[in-house]
Parts: sequence; C-alpha cells; structure tokens
Amino acid sequence: MADSAAPTQTIQLGKRKLAVSVQGRGPTLLLVHGFPLDHTIWRHQIQHFSKSMQVIAPDLSGFGKSGVDSRATVSMEDYADDLSELIDQLTPPGPLTFCGLSMGGYIGWQFLKRHRPKVDRLVMTNTRSGNDDERTARGRRLAAGQILKHGVSEILSHMPLKLVGSSAPPELVRELRDVITNTPAETVAAAQLAMAERPDMSDFLETLDLPTLLVCGSQDTITPPEEMVEMGHRIEGSTYVEIAGAGHLTPLESPSAFNQALEQFLQIQ
Ligand code: MLT
Repeated sequence: MADSAAPTQTIQLGKRKLAVSVQGRGPTLLLVHGFPLDHTIWRHQIQHFSKSMQVIAPDLSGFGKSGVDSRATVSMEDYADDLSELIDQLTPPGPLTFCGLSMGGYIGWQFLKRHRPKVDRLVMTNTRSGNDDERTARGRRLAAGQILKHGVSEILSHMPLKLVGSSAPPELVRELRDVITNTPAETVAAAQLAMAERPDMSDFLETLDLPTLLVCGSQDTITPPEEMVEMGHRIEGSTYVEIAGAGHLTPLESPSAFNQALEQFLQIQ
C-alpha cells in the first residue's frame, strides 16, 4: 500500500520487533489494524490526528514491516500484551484512546481486559464482540492449512476481496491485494488460528465503563452494521455512527466521515 502513512521505527519486544509509526504530540491515540493488513490502513487518521495528538500505529507482530513472529502460536491476548509493552516503551504512563478495526477490535477487548488502566476512551470500528461459530472456526483452520501449503497469493487469487464496499476505487483494491500478498503465510495462518480460538466477549460489553464510539460502514459484509448496533445497545452510553457507502475498511474508504465522527467523539469527552 502506498505508504503515505509516514515512516516507521522499530521497537524491540524481547526477541521480536514491531514496526510502528509514531507521529505528533499530545494525548495518545493508538490505532490497531485488522487482518491481514498493516498500519497503512490508518494513513488518513495518522495525517489528520497527529496535528493534535500523539498517534501510534503499529504493524502487529508478523504483519507489515514488523519482523517474522517466531512464536509457535499467537492469541488475541498475545497481540494485546505486545501493544501494552510497545506503549510502555514509547510513551510516558497516561491513558490513551484505543481504536481498533476488526481483528484490531478483537485485540482491543483483550487489551481492555488485561491493561484497563492504560485506556480512557474506546473506539471500535468494523468489528464484533462475539467469537466464531464452529463452522467459521473450522473454515479458518482449513484456510490456515491451505495458506501454509500453497502460499498467500495462490489462495488470494481465487477469492473476491470482501474488505471494501462496491464503490471502492480499483487502485485501492489493488493496493490491498498487494499488502495481503506481502504478508508472510506463517503470519496469516497464525492469525487465522488465533481468531478461531478467540473468546466470546459479548458479556464483557455490559461491564464497560468508559466513553465508547462504535463505527461501521453501511456495506460492511464481514462485521455487518446490525451486529454493531446490537453491541451499542449493550455498552452503556456508547455512540454508534454508520457511514454510508463504506465497507469493512471504513477509516480508509471514507476518511473524512470517519475522521469527523472520531473528532466529534474526542472533543465531547
Ligand atoms: C479483519 O478485518 O480483521 C478480519 O476480517 C476479521 C475476521 O476475519 O473476523
């Protein structure tokens, strides 16, 4: 993907390293990408919010420019702990706004559960709280095996890209295919298995006690708006914003509308 999202630096986490874009000064906004992408999906938010905030947008372990992840297995909890360690290294203690897209949201629930004092505002976009039903989990395990056997590009070439809405420009679709193709098969497979095993966090929603913004694209077929509306009913005081015409990558497909919703949320808290 064209990296207008600003350069990254590398942070060592034990034996692993994470590539991360850190831009701007002020209260921290942590942007966590979805599967199987990287921090560049946030390029419009990095550019906009770094004028008034410290925007931290990592490539999760194994994704984007982060090094290969040599762990035998990973979990949403592992990714969340990586983020916590990353934050400790990058910024003085102080609560941040956690903003996660799809798998970034699945990780967000674990980040909140395990590192609650680090968060004072929550933004969940194009995501869900439930886990996979058995059929979906089985599909992910099958896909992980196929990807390890045949490679990411072979599998991707037979699949329609469901990530974006019907009016997304062809160059964006090409960029996304490039990012996915460049992700190591081991990373894609490990994340698929991790998502298949992730816990159901639906009951956790009722325990949330922080300002929360939920955003979804009206054409999101992966984590559909109805599910996010339902999540909103379970999170006390949350705000739900639906962005017309966007698919699963709302912040990238409709940056102005997404930024406006986020800006309004950040200002009114
Ligand atoms: C994502 O965008 O992170 C994935 O589509 C999430 C998923 O496969 O459940």
